[in-house]
Amino acid sequence: MPVLAVVGGQWGDEGKGKIIDLLAGRAHVVVRAQGGDNAGHTVVNPRGKFALHLVPAGIFNEQTRCLIGPGVALNPETLLVEMDELARRGVSTDNLVISARAHLVMPYHPLFDKLEEESRGAGAIGTTGRGIGPTYSDKVGRVGIVAGDLLRPERFRQKVKASVDRKNLVLDRLYGAPPVEADAIIEKYLRHADRLGKYVAESEPILEQALKEGRTILLEGGHGTLLDLDHGTYPYVTTTSCTVGGLLNGAGIGPRHLTTAIGVFKAYQSRVGAGAMPSELLDDVGDHIRERGHEYGTTTGRPRRVGWFDAVAARHSMIVNGFHSIALTRIDILDDLDELQVCVAYELDGERVDHVPSQIEDLARCQPIYEGMSGWKVPTGDAQDWRDLPRQARDYVRLIEECVGAPAGLIGVGQEREKTIFTGALP
Ligand code: IMP
Repeated sequence: MPVLAVVGGQWGDEGKGKIIDLLAGRAHVVVRAQGGDNAGHTVVNPRGKFALHLVPAGIFNEQTRCLIGPGVALNPETLLVEMDELARRGVSTDNLVISARAHLVMPYHPLFDKLEEESRGAGAIGTTGRGIGPTYSDKVGRVGIVAGDLLRPERFRQKVKASVDRKNLVLDRLYGAPPVEADAIIEKYLRHADRLGKYVAESEPILEQALKEGRTILLEGGHGTLLDLDHGTYPYVTTTSCTVGGLLNGAGIGPRHLTTAIGVFKAYQSRVGAGAMPSELLDDVGDHIRERGHEYGTTTGRPRRVGWFDAVAARHSMIVNGFHSIALTRIDILDDLDELQVCVAYELDGERVDHVPSQIEDLARCQPIYEGMSGWKVPTGDAQDWRDLPRQARDYVRLIEECVGAPAGLIGVGQEREKTIFTGALP
């Protein structure tokens, strides 16, 4: 009864969507466990190219139940847009289930996201603007509205009215902004409920049954470990726990059921939004990687910051997640480079540092210490087997495995599902 967790090992955008799409074929249930439509998963499979934000990447397999778990911040409006787009392209969403516990992103949450960002001035986080932070703030403040409330219109009305009264006070007193209207929100969301209500369910019995029957459950991570609220580069993080532990909790599965934790790492580093990134490349090599890798946000379209693979950050990820194996994606993007660097340590105040400092000010002052190696300068896109990779590419993978302390079970050499090498190291 395997339970697999697929987690981003870096700052998100590692190519998790592809790995999940690939593994979903063997899963009975795929669970999106945390985060919201701030996440973006690009999937390229025989049905075409899709950008998913809330719908679990198991949706292309009609046998697979796709659960939006209790830990997710769900925006019903963007979910419906995504479902309509999938339907238009012939992908059924009949197997979608929404946990009644999932918190709803309300129309005032993106508004607060924007106002909070503006008030941070130069210290802005660079959020996706999807209202995810404010939704989780309400959850933690125990005033959130959940998907299950959509099924009880009277209760939903009361909760929205109470929430809007409080929000309007803050809008007026703190931001001098115009109020939002409860009735318009209630009407709109109850219309969404007419369409989404049939998908809302108690998720625990579904997972309990799958576990009892020994079915495969795949936990789909959003974002990445360095954006984790507890273990990431705080405060430049997202507002959920995107680690293996966070996924188990967000799905509602006890840790003893976990059999395999896979960390997805890109062969280089990327980041959207603000915050320290010691191995960032601000030169032509960085521009080359960005263009060749189409490193622009799936959710916001923003250009991503890129850099050399940061093995210090990767080890941090390994510590907090305990990956059994890694999926190393996009090595083909490095095909043209004469030379490659891996950041194997940092230098801080003249001292060598082998871990990620907890204080963001310290991380921002860290200088990368690199280990260099020559590039392979041949296309890897057609490699189907480990032995098809050029020697330098294999050396590069070996160096990363050594730094992270886990074997690479999967190596990505292109966007499409089949452009993946299975090394046999996947449990
Ligand atoms: P938020 O999650 O919208 O609040 O944004 C907080 C930070 O996390 C910002 O730096 C975002 O760019 C980043 N972020 C959130 N989700 C993702 C993701 O899926 N990929 C990459 N960065 C993300």
